[in-house]
Amino acid sequence: MGPVFIALDFGELKAVQKFLDLFPNTDQLAVKVGMELYYSQGPAIIKYLQAQKVQIFLDLKLYDIPNTVEQAAYQLALQKIDYLTIHAAGGSKMIQSAKAGLIRGSQEQHQAVPKLLAITKLTSFSQTQMQKEQQIAATLPQAVSHLAQLAQQNGADGVICSAQENQIIHQVTQPNFLCINPGIRLADNSADDQERIATPSKAKAWGSNGLVIGRPITKANDPVAVYQQILKQWRN
Ligand code: C5P
Repeated sequence: MGPVFIALDFGELKAVQKFLDLFPNTDQLAVKVGMELYYSQGPAIIKYLQAQKVQIFLDLKLYDIPNTVEQAAYQLALQKIDYLTIHAAGGSKMIQSAKAGLIRGSQEQHQAVPKLLAITKLTSFSQTQMQKEQQIAATLPQAVSHLAQLAQQNGADGVICSAQENQIIHQVTQPNFLCINPGIRLADNSADDQERIATPSKAKAWGSNGLVIGRPITKANDPVAVYQQILKQWRN
């Protein structure tokens, strides 16, 4: 069963500590550090989380020229993370450079190479928006499936995508290619700003290899109970 990453979308270390203190065994947890937390706390947050023995998914969604992305991925691999994200839209060379930087950094640290995950289309983005604002004539599933293949061909280990797209992506990629899904909501949750959502059970039935869930857990009255409920659906 793949990981259930809790998105630690907090701006302060204190908030992270308070949240993780709720959990009896943090060494069982997988967490996602996004831009808000990393930009406010820097590499110190990674050190802190390593001490908690959680799996670390650093979601910085790199998107720049290949040389800059290679250097950034190298620096991040030196910090010993487990997963890193880039935008597949950055193109073949940028994806290859991200992978090269991760390999270079983790070899220096004698660590396993962090898994490289590519964003296809943000789950807050709709087909209408994509067609109007980005002038992409393809349908959303076509665009997502194209970007997933591009990511795989250039060294990514998987993609971040809506659960609704897992099946088409698995059809066009190797069996070990990962589909990690944000936009996860329990049946009674608000969708917030997410557009293409699914429940944990639906995501699983559609071939999900891991979930990313933030607000339904972090904003809950009882985060541990909601997390357990999600795990139960995910593991059943
Ligand atoms: O609070 P919520 O469950 O919507 O959080 C989802 C997390 O996954 C956020 O941290 C968001 O940045 C991230 N994410 C996403 N869609 C993507 C990639 C990442 O929602 N395509």
